[in-house]
Amino acid sequence: MTSIDSRRLPEHIAIIMDGNGRWAKKKGLSRILGHQQGADAVREIVTASRDIGIRWLTLYAFSEENWKRPAHEVQALMKLLNRFLKKELEEMQENGIRLKTIGRTSRLPKRTRDILLDTIEKTSSNRQMTLTLALSYGGRQEILDAILKIAARVERGEMAADQITEQTVTDALYTSGMPDPDLLIRTSGEYRVSNFLLWQISYSEIYITPTLWPDFDKNEYLKAIQDYQKRDRRFGGTGAGSKE
Ligand code: IPE
Ligand code: IPE
Ligand code: MG
Repeated sequence: MTSIDSRRLPEHIAIIMDGNGRWAKKKGLSRILGHQQGADAVREIVTASRDIGIRWLTLYAFSEENWKRPAHEVQALMKLLNRFLKKELEEMQENGIRLKTIGRTSRLPKRTRDILLDTIEKTSSNRQMTLTLALSYGGRQEILDAILKIAARVERGEMAADQITEQTVTDALYTSGMPDPDLLIRTSGEYRVSNFLLWQISYSEIYITPTLWPDFDKNEYLKAIQDYQKRDRRFGGTGAGSKE
């Protein structure tokens, strides 16, 4: 088992869970079965995060652009999400996991929205870890929504345009109140961010693995964290630990 330094854990890990379709294709199975297997990987990584002591885990589960997929695939993904949430509620309660969502969730089917709201409410006082699901999420859309929010405030005379700071923008994003991701993982070997957390990843460490999401297990996860722990985060400074 890969060993990690528990004193240098990333506070927030964000994951682009990619490769379900290719995993299925390789095995001659339907894409839907790939997503089913992907849901099992989600379970394993959520539990592992909680055990390792990660405080914030954000998973890219469905992008704003994923609405372009065939209706039957979108439906299957929503059904899997419903089932996942219902099955995992007890586990979340036992492990102190709070659920949150980011994205234009009003676009989700009513049944999914209802289950999400119920799970969010029931887990709202949990404090060990926050699991954020990005659903109908797009980074550009998030920034646009923030701009609209801030512009409306200026228009109502609640603030002057020249008072807008980076913090104003940060606070107007869906992720308001969350720390930026320290580590961004993408599975399935694609070297792109696909519209994920564009504002928030400005100084995230990026880890890309060829492993397809359904095969991404706790050991692979530990390897990613171990790799992160070897990095020298400079934040534009000159060397080790220069955060300012
Ligand atoms: C990730 O797997 C899951 C979602 C985007 C919902 P994909 O479905 O994108 O799998 P590939 O990229 O086609 O292999
Ligand atoms: C990114 O994967 C979105 C999620 C993981 C939910 P995609 O498969 O949609 O991304 P592209 O199309 O390869 O960029
Ligand atoms: Mg993909």
